[in-house]
Amino acid sequence: MDCKIRPWRMDDAKSLATVLNNRKILDNLRDGIPFPYTIRDAEEYISAMISANKDTTYAFAITLDDKVIGSIGAFGKDNIHFRTAETGYYISESYWGKGLGTSAVKQLCKYIFDNTGIIRLFAEPFAENVASCRILEKSGFICEGILRKNAFKNGKILDMKLYALIKN
Ligand SMILES: CC(C)(COP(=O)(O)OP(=O)(O)OC[C@H]1O[C@@H](n2cnc3c(N)ncnc32)[C@H](O)[C@@H]1OP(=O)(O)O)[C@@H](O)C(=O)NCCC(=O)NCCS
Repeated sequence: MDCKIRPWRMDDAKSLATVLNNRKILDNLRDGIPFPYTIRDAEEYISAMISANKDTTYAFAITLDDKVIGSIGAFGKDNIHFRTAETGYYISESYWGKGLGTSAVKQLCKYIFDNTGIIRLFAEPFAENVASCRILEKSGFICEGILRKNAFKNGKILDMKLYALIKN
């Protein structure tokens, strides 16, 4: 079983809402995503991604047999950092532990380095998010350091890790 990444379509909204309406996923992301997460929320996200600046926003659905089971993206920085992008991703809890997150991250990195001017992809998982750190390591990212007490999430002060992958 392997997943694919592809551009978002408006008819993905129902599946996206099902995937993201999950506290265990939201607890590992930045704040600002509504909970419960409705089909209307999913439509707004997909619409924003479809109309976003194609030179800085690379957002993909993660699919199995063309059905959405997750989301992944690389989001370009500006000013002197315009050749770097931050990546973020999540997979439906029903599919955790099957290697799909790792596959999606590898596919994203290949797409970005083959098709854009980005030379550095980075991610900042919570240090306690072992699964995400492991995905990044298995995809070739190097841990460049611990960002101590870098976040306040769900009432807790958290360390984050800075991982980056450089284009050869
Ligand atoms: C992080 C996430 C994307 C992982 O997706 P996944 O498809 O389950 O990942 P994979 O199966 O490709 O790999 C997970 C790896 O982490 C390991 N892992 C998972 N949970 C673990 C834990 N609690 N402790 C140690 N290792 C763990 C797995 O064993 C696997 O490593 P291995 O192949 O060396 O055994 C998924 O859990 C998720 O969506 N989480 C919520 C959102 C999130 O954290 N996003 C990232 C924000 S930076």
